[in-house]
Amino acid sequence: MHKSVSDLFAGLWLDYVSITPSAYKIHALLAEKTHSTIVNDHIALRTFDIEKVGLSKLAAHFLALGYEHKGDYDFSSKKLNAKHFEHPDANVPKVFISELRVKELSVQAQHIINQLVEQMDPSVVSDDNFLYSGRHWQLSNGDYTKLLLESEYAAWVAAWGFRANHFTVSVNDLNTIAELADVNILLKQAGFTLNTSGGEIKGGKDVLLAQSSTMADRVSMQFSDISQTIPSCFYEFAQRYKTADGEYYKGFVAASADKIFESTNAA
Ligand code: NI
Repeated sequence: MHKSVSDLFAGLWLDYVSITPSAYKIHALLAEKTHSTIVNDHIALRTFDIEKVGLSKLAAHFLALGYEHKGDYDFSSKKLNAKHFEHPDANVPKVFISELRVKELSVQAQHIINQLVEQMDPSVVSDDNFLYSGRHWQLSNGDYTKLLLESEYAAWVAAWGFRANHFTVSVNDLNTIAELADVNILLKQAGFTLNTSGGEIKGGKDVLLAQSSTMADRVSMQFSDISQTIPSCFYEFAQRYKTADGEYYKGFVAASADKIFESTNAA
């Protein structure tokens, strides 16, 4: 387990930008244009609901650093459970972890996923670097393609393993831009592609959280047989609104997250 939250997030960030070059560029662009130190609102992690690698195995790393479980989510069409975690120090990023309900997939897809996870040494889930250790199994392009036909999420976890799926710029902490819509304009002017599923902005003041995201970068993945260019990770942007008690809303909005998941769609 990590000694500090900052060590853990430093490891997660380095791994993330190594396969998401656009996030590195956007981070620099927003810092320069808005004269800000970029604050990370949250990260998201993905896994399968198999005992050996389930959500609780990932969450244990955060709980050990003082995080607390704050919310539960169900994404029925994508067959996912999710939880969010917050740290008592409000300056520390929130964490959103989801897991795919593997038994709701076809027998063929279940078989592929079980074979991947079986290749893993069960002890690695408690290694310091587990949350950014990537893939622990051999995967053929054929099996990746079969999973992709059924679940983009299953294919993503199979290909990328354990690492941050996205980081999130806190729009509230940008100095010279107040609105998410203006962040989106800046990004589009700079040539970045936004996820338009459910509209460029998901949510809004009415649900206390507005979110947008880039479409995932596309990078070359070496499979056990061939290599192919596939979606990696994306960058998210979040603007939070105050609740009736005057505090910023800290939760997530399931209807918006449902569309954000599609930022790693292959098509
Ligand atoms: Ni997110």
